[in-house]
Amino acid sequence: MSTPEAGTFMNYIGGRWVGARSGKMMESVNPATGEVLGRVPESSAEDAQDAVAAASAAFASWRRMPAPRRAEILFRVAERLVAHKEALARLMTREMGKVLPEARGDVQEAIDMSYFIAGEGRRLRGYTAPSEMPRKAAYCVRAPLGVVGVITPWNFPMAIPSWKIVPALVCGNTVVFKPASYTPLVALKFVEIFEEAGLPPGVLNIVTGPGARAGDALVAHPDVRVISFTGSTETGLRLAEQCGRLGKRVSLEMGGKNAAIVMPDADLGLATDALVWSAFGTTGQRCTACSRIIVHRDVQADLTDRLVERARGLRLGDGLEAGTDVGPVVSGAQLERIHAYVEVGRREGARLLTGGTRVEDGALARGYFYAPTLFDRVTPQMRIAREEIFGPVTDLIEADSFEQAVAALNDSRYGLSASIFTRDITAAMRAADEIETGIVYINHGTIGAEVHLPFGGTKDTGNGHREGGLQVLDAFSEWKAVYVDYSGRLQRAQIDRD
Ligand code: UN1
Repeated sequence: MSTPEAGTFMNYIGGRWVGARSGKMMESVNPATGEVLGRVPESSAEDAQDAVAAASAAFASWRRMPAPRRAEILFRVAERLVAHKEALARLMTREMGKVLPEARGDVQEAIDMSYFIAGEGRRLRGYTAPSEMPRKAAYCVRAPLGVVGVITPWNFPMAIPSWKIVPALVCGNTVVFKPASYTPLVALKFVEIFEEAGLPPGVLNIVTGPGARAGDALVAHPDVRVISFTGSTETGLRLAEQCGRLGKRVSLEMGGKNAAIVMPDADLGLATDALVWSAFGTTGQRCTACSRIIVHRDVQADLTDRLVERARGLRLGDGLEAGTDVGPVVSGAQLERIHAYVEVGRREGARLLTGGTRVEDGALARGYFYAPTLFDRVTPQMRIAREEIFGPVTDLIEADSFEQAVAALNDSRYGLSASIFTRDITAAMRAADEIETGIVYINHGTIGAEVHLPFGGTKDTGNGHREGGLQVLDAFSEWKAVYVDYSGRLQRAQIDRD
């Protein structure tokens, strides 16, 4: 990467590393230590417009490159990600705080996605169908849409961009990428890997900076045909409104309030392991995090004791240090938001079992650490049971029966991920039928989706699109039907029937 001075990074537009036109820069800061990691462009609308112009210019030749050839570059991206996995993971831990094994997992998810979707370069399947007329062929193919705007969050700074960028490119689109303001360095390194893999100039561009300027300019630009967004429901719905007015396709991945059900016949040791991981892994900052545990009354006391003990034993610290279980939250603003929710929970009458405070012992005072927090006596009506907190906070909700548990689980505006712990196959299969989320786990927590299955949620979590799986191709392509009449005469469909 071109670095005019150490720790200063540039946007990548039309194959060149360039600063913001305004010359403004912003800092990327380690949330565990407060260390400034680098300075990146604070881009504005005009930088985003430059990037769209570069992406539009590159579209004509990129769409014409045969998909298997496009995919060769994407396979090389995967290989380079493998080669740089450790360095990328370390940078990610420093930039957004997740512990190193999880950061390695985030990079691995991008590797998996790149290999999986690069394989589609030799498939991208359409189909042929018989025509209703003689001597006439009919088939359909996936066509690219044009410039795709990719707007991504900080919690999976490499995996989530890969879910969007790689499929958009294999389909023949070009991309302008606007990463979250908290994680620009990982995003820039990711783009550098595409450059090194031989992606032609202009096919992938990145502008760093606040969403309100660079992101909104992407949404407004007439040459951007698709917006793919992961982030808050509030922002997503606002983007959808703008895209709706402009007739643009928009793929949204938004909030979650994921729940797990624990039945009396569950393996409580397994449930405890899985729920601690789902609630407090990634410091609770996953859209798939488990923030509601709906436990059958018969095992409530036992499960609660186990969870409290485990939550208290989690070691907070810098994610780079071996032995750290839980890293910082991403920023001071997030820390305050999480704590405000804990106060709401207390006021609503929930009982705080453990956590509920910022942790500032010794070196932790330099970062944004929050104690893993568990509430019980939570009812489905409470705000802490309904709103996404996006931090290390989870609720215990008591249920008397399977039916009541499933009803409580489904009583949410969100529908991303859910799970049930039971040894009863009938209860497990009924849960898979009746739970209204996009992802259901049996005897596993709510996190851990794999890239080759569709990822996404129902209700206010999304707008019907899926990432991952082959389904992701639908977000970044449109169908073209082709008819070839070789009869040599006019044949009128629906009319000439004899
Ligand atoms: C997210 O939190 O936005 O299933 C993505 C999981 C991960 C991806 C999470 N594979 O938890």
